[in-house]
Amino acid sequence: MKKVITYGTYDLIHYGHIRLLERAKALGDYLIVGVTSEDFDKNRGKINVQQTLMERLEGVKVTGIADEIIIEEYEGQKIDDICRKEVDVFAIGSDWIGKFDYLKQYCEVVYLDRTEGISSTQIRSSNSSIRLGLKGDAVYLNKIDRECAFVNGIHVLALCSDKGADIKCFADRMQYDTDHYDEFLDHIDAVYVHSTPAEHYHDIVRALEKGKHVICESPISMRKEETAELFELAQQKNCVLQEAIKTAYTTAYARMLLLVQSGKIGKVVSIEATCTSLSKDTDAAGWNSICSWGPVALLPVFQIFGLNYLSSEMISIYNDSHLSQELMTNIRFIYPQGVASVKVGKKIKSEGELVISGTKGYIYVPAPWWKTEYFEIRYEQLTKTRKYYYQLEGEGIRNEFVSFFQNMKGKHTLAYISKEISLEISGIMEQFCTRTNTKIILEDVNEGN
Ligand code: CTP
Repeated sequence: MKKVITYGTYDLIHYGHIRLLERAKALGDYLIVGVTSEDFDKNRGKINVQQTLMERLEGVKVTGIADEIIIEEYEGQKIDDICRKEVDVFAIGSDWIGKFDYLKQYCEVVYLDRTEGISSTQIRSSNSSIRLGLKGDAVYLNKIDRECAFVNGIHVLALCSDKGADIKCFADRMQYDTDHYDEFLDHIDAVYVHSTPAEHYHDIVRALEKGKHVICESPISMRKEETAELFELAQQKNCVLQEAIKTAYTTAYARMLLLVQSGKIGKVVSIEATCTSLSKDTDAAGWNSICSWGPVALLPVFQIFGLNYLSSEMISIYNDSHLSQELMTNIRFIYPQGVASVKVGKKIKSEGELVISGTKGYIYVPAPWWKTEYFEIRYEQLTKTRKYYYQLEGEGIRNEFVSFFQNMKGKHTLAYISKEISLEISGIMEQFCTRTNTKIILEDVNEGN
């Protein structure tokens, strides 16, 4: 019996896939089809596959062409499969020409002509295209624009930014200045907001009132009540309102949370998160350290310990009596089960690490932990240390927009950041602004001293 094997994602199975499978089968007597797992796809940069692995397996099954269906989970698996299953022919579409020649030492390799004019990417884009507008700081919007190019189905159509901003890469698209925000909103289905924290609330209200979905750079607003109002409005208008904290969408961070939840380090008793950066344009447009770093640093605390802390204390250090030059802020939370400490600063430098301590061991995420790719679980016995690595593409921004896209399509796959956490983050911003429960330290720090 001549065995043939082929591999693919088979998202939204189409005519091109079926022709490929038929021709692969015709090369022998028995066809094995390898369907890629979600993890494997993510690692090779295919991020917004729309069907789950089970749906894609089912899609291949109903064609009735495959004799055996397997899951492809790791790099190098093809060699393993070919040897273990005594495969005679490896077949794949011509878009892969040359890429699998290394398999020739194990079996015959055949590249079959790809069917012209159809692909999963094309179906994903035409099925469900979302016209996205970007509002706010042009420098950051350039980055978002680049990352959205990786998300099928999202088209960045228009931009709304300050007059005279550097927006060269948008030359071929609609551009509005901030005075024409409403007009800009009329042309899009969804908006990404990265204006100043103080402007977020108004930008979001106006978008939601027009029935536009919103993803907003954290914090959503500077007052808890306002954020609650925005979520209510989003619900009334049947729109998505999503908080953008890119760390939440990175695979390593998500896996790290799962390991904590599954008890790998025992009961968690302490969380310490530090985020700092030294930049000259500090506090530009209201992005002081608490707005820039607070939400991300608070995220593991709220996601692991929850929101029912017994008390909290905020300590901010300034180097001017007008309290406009904030050096750093430290927030300490006391929970029934333990303590958490968050340190953020834009005029100090510290080790940007995350340490989660438990009764059996601890998790160590090295700096910069908010761009997590790697972490360790450490125990008393050094030899028990476990290391985890998950490649990070685009700082998490791509995944963030895939999640936004899926939410807009009503596929509520995973609540990366719950509404309750968004509300609490705004509450902390409010506490900072109103200086409630806050200790102020005035430090006479002169550079060079
Ligand atoms: N294939 C084909 N003709 C097409 C599309 C795919 O012959 N028009 C083949 C691929 O070459 C591969 C198999 O079908 O051997 C599975 O491909 P897959 O990557 O799942 O499908 P695509 O439609 O190419 O997906 P995407 O657009 O996400 O890359």
